[in-house]
Formats: sequence, C-alpha cells, structure tokens
Amino acid sequence: MKTQQETLFSLHKTNSPEETGALAEQMAALLKPQDVIFLKGDLGAGKSTFARALIQSLCGKSTEVPSPTFTLVQMYETPNFPLWHFDLYRLENETDLCELGFEEAYQAGVSLIEWPERLSLLPPTWIEIVFAPGEGGEGRTLQITKKEKNHKKLNQKSMRFFLSPEGKNDESH
Ligand SMILES: Nc1ncnc2c1ncn2[C@@H]1O[C@H](COP(=O)(O)OP(=O)(O)OP(=O)(O)O)[C@@H](O)[C@H]1O
Ligand SMILES: [Mg+2]
Repeated sequence: MKTQQETLFSLHKTNSPEETGALAEQMAALLKPQDVIFLKGDLGAGKSTFARALIQSLCGKSTEVPSPTFTLVQMYETPNFPLWHFDLYRLENETDLCELGFEEAYQAGVSLIEWPERLSLLPPTWIEIVFAPGEGGEGRTLQITKKEKNHKKLNQKSMRFFLSPEGKNDESH
C-alpha cells in the first residue's frame, strides 16, 4: 500500500535569487494555518533564499531571517498566524525532533521545513518544493508537489497550483 500519493504538481524556473523570492511571495499570500511546506534540495540550492523571502513578505522586508541551521528552529509572528522555520540538516536524533515542537507548529501555524528528509513526524498533507540547478549559474528549477500521508482525497482547491501555467493535475500516480 502506498503511504504517499502525489496528485498535484507544477514546475517553475527562476533565473536569480530575486525571481525565487518573487515566487515565495506569491506563495506567502496564499498561506493559512496548518499549511506545511517541505523545502528539499542540495546545499546552496535556494531553500533558505525562498524561506527568507516568504517570511519577509509576511513580517516585513527588514525582518532578520537567520538560517536556523544550528538552532534547528526559528519562530515568527506574522499578522495572521505564527510561522515556524525549521532546518533539520544538523538534527541528530529523534529526541531532538520531539523537542522542536512540530505538533504545535502543524496545528497552530505555518511550517517551513528545510531538510525534511530527516523528519519522521509527517503532517496529514504538505507541499513539497524540490530545488535543483537550472540553466546558468543562477538558474534553478522548483518542482512543487502536494503530498499526503494517507489515501484521503486531497482538496485540490485548497492549494491549487496556482502559480504556474505548467501546473498539472496528475492523477496517474
Ligand atoms: N535562482 C536562484 N534561486 C535561489 N538562490 C539562488 C538562485 N541563483 C543563485 N542563488 C544563490 O544560491 C544560494 C542559495 O543559498 P541558500 O542558502 O538559499 O541555499 P539552501 O538550499 O538553503 O542551502 P543549505 O542546504 O545549505 O541551507 C544563495 O547564495 C543565492 O543567492
Ligand atoms: Mg538553507
């Protein structure tokens, strides 16, 4: 039995950190409590660049957004919900994971999670963004997929993908 099912995805190309930031701002405007975003990709792929632009668009351009590489988590108060920015790259064990407050983050606000591969506690549904090198030094591709933990039918309008004409409703999985 499959435990994860992909039903929606879209593909974006950005040519600079600013373009990645612009996409993050568009997504920021659509977020609501209990949304969870997984940010995947190699070191330097652009995950924190995306997270910083998203947070600054909600909290103000001058908001400092340090990388939570060592603290593992950083919390922000946005006008409509709290937002947790996790970076699990240096996560060492499950105990640490429990102490980071995922349950509360999933319930009460929006969660942005870098290096979610290290996460065992999954939310019911989430948006996954995979960052990869694109054309030229500053090119990146961002594939955005809506995922679910169980087989429950997704509400496809809740995070309809949205931002790109290349978005697809893929029910073949
Ligand atoms: N199109 C682009 N989108 C995002 N970042 C880009 C782009 N082009 C160049 N960059 C640069 O790539 C770097 C991305 O770094 P960033 O910290 O966002 O990566 P990361 O995926 O969070 O890495 P890590 O896993 O180490 O935290 C930045 O220096 C950014 O300016
Ligand atoms: Mg990062």
